[in-house]
Amino acid sequence: MDFTPPPIEDGFTAEKLFNQGFSYTYDDVIFLPHYIDFPAEAVDLSSRISRNVPLSVPFVASPMDTVSESAMAAAMASLGAIAIIHSNISPATQAAIIRSAKSRRVPILSHPVFLPPSAYIDSPDDFADSPFILVTESGNSKSKLLGYVSKEDYMNQSDKSLKVRDYMAPSTPITVPWSHDLKEIDKVLEEKKANFVGLVKDNEVVDVVTKDDVEKVKGYPKLAGPGSLGADGEWMVGAAIGTREQDKQRLEHLVKAGVNVVILDSSQGNSSYQLEMIKYVKKVYPELDVVGGNVVTMYQAENLIQAGVDGLRVGMGSGSICTTQEVCAVGRGQATAVYKVASIAYKSGVPVIADGGISNSGHIVKALSLGASTVMMGSFLAGSNEAPGAYEYQNGQRVKKYRGMGSLEAMTKGSDQRYLGDTAKLKIAQGVVGAVKDKGSVLKFLPYTMQAVKQGFQDIGANSLQSAHDLLRSKVLRLEVRTGAAQVEGGIHVLCRLTVIEATDATSVQPPSPPCLHRCQSITAAARVCWSCTKPSSSLSREEGSERDRSYERGEVTPPKAVVEDPMIKAVPLESLKVVLIFPLLLRFATFFAIVSKRT
Ligand code: IMP
Repeated sequence: MDFTPPPIEDGFTAEKLFNQGFSYTYDDVIFLPHYIDFPAEAVDLSSRISRNVPLSVPFVASPMDTVSESAMAAAMASLGAIAIIHSNISPATQAAIIRSAKSRRVPILSHPVFLPPSAYIDSPDDFADSPFILVTESGNSKSKLLGYVSKEDYMNQSDKSLKVRDYMAPSTPITVPWSHDLKEIDKVLEEKKANFVGLVKDNEVVDVVTKDDVEKVKGYPKLAGPGSLGADGEWMVGAAIGTREQDKQRLEHLVKAGVNVVILDSSQGNSSYQLEMIKYVKKVYPELDVVGGNVVTMYQAENLIQAGVDGLRVGMGSGSICTTQEVCAVGRGQATAVYKVASIAYKSGVPVIADGGISNSGHIVKALSLGASTVMMGSFLAGSNEAPGAYEYQNGQRVKKYRGMGSLEAMTKGSDQRYLGDTAKLKIAQGVVGAVKDKGSVLKFLPYTMQAVKQGFQDIGANSLQSAHDLLRSKVLRLEVRTGAAQVEGGIHVLCRLTVIEATDATSVQPPSPPCLHRCQSITAAARVCWSCTKPSSSLSREEGSERDRSYERGEVTPPKAVVEDPMIKAVPLESLKVVLIFPLLLRFATFFAIVSKRT
């Protein structure tokens, strides 16, 4: 790769752009394209979350109670990424979640139900989410497997007052070692003509994998590589802890459960509590990587680096559910924060996690190219099947709850130490509770996001994260700030309706509605055409554009924030446009021929 700065001066170097006294977010800046001499497939996205924890995909699921529990951890690890289990639960539960995720090599969790032979099944609800109830000698996962009852068999059973032993399938279920991957399980299911297999670890049935599950995952994009495996051959899983005295006990539980990296979860990481905790972790568990944060300045970062952190988490006020900047008047635009912290952390070989504010693949390209080694995501993943919680319907949309860990609701469950320091009695919210759209499985949509990120890297001429960082520091990679109007131009505009055809699932969705650009304050369609004034955005004058920016600043119009975009909206706009433009043309041709053939 050629790191000689271009002979023709054009655009700003990152150093110049980020030293002008402005706090920039990802949307404020844009990379200028560079030179391509490799295919997008050749882009290597492998990275590290911390000094000694490598990942093949630079994505991290945030430690939030509406994002990261065992299903997310298993799925992220199977993709080559990692999830950080939140600490808004007891230490024992947090450790059990880690064990559960690590006790399989498949990205599927079905949480089977166990009963003893003498038990009764009262209703179909007893099956919970699993299509089977497993019958074991003592009714728990650790005793001898005797048989099983499928939900279908139970429904067909006329006498529901019988004990399960009287109608359970006579044969014991087929079991395989926990370390079998999907391919091996598929083979066993085929050979034995079975509907499901039990996964066994240390004589305990840890889960069941059904044929339906395997078939579903087989239809998702194929990924190369075995996923994120630790030295123990198990999925890598991270966990969050606080900086209080009792967190030392929590840490002990987590280490016993095999945690691969811990993150000190604090909204302002540059504190005596955190420095002390970093030193404690490094002294008691020298083999364990500890990530400090959150930080947004070089000074904060340097303090944590001196204390011995193995990674830095960057972001203050950038999260979609975050109100820290409004409540406390402290923070930094995320693009500036990532660049500044990374520019000091790389000198000590400390990887940076760009945490929060990711709502499309372009934001990921920007974060990684500005010096981050991974991106941490909350809202981007919270609407997935793997996030905790059930789907519900709101205004005809299928959504999942997503809440800030600094929201009053989450803090009453225990996450207050992230925001309140040690002794605060009055709880002040620094986050909100909301909902995000159903996005399906992360196993399905993250591979598309990865591909989009690779294409972004190709455009800037970087075939790896390291080369992007080198291009930026050697002043080859150039950027500019986008005006409000340039940001409008860079998004979908002028259209009166947008039909998005997903590459994997042909559904029509409306993208999030931004506020009216003409300050009518009514919610507009995706086309950015206001329903009340009906003026298209292209008619927006330069003055109106900057007036809009000022009205954002004055708080008269709230720019869209906590709305999650479908990654495919950015990933396949061309396909969408084709559908929008070609369909009316075809309709006109059809009408024309119908009239002509009638006349003749
Ligand atoms: P998102 O990906 O933009 O939704 O941001 C997720 C990030 O927001 C998390 O990883 C946290 O760093 C941060 N965060 C989580 N909860 C809160 C909160 O209640 N207030 C402020 N920041 C939060």
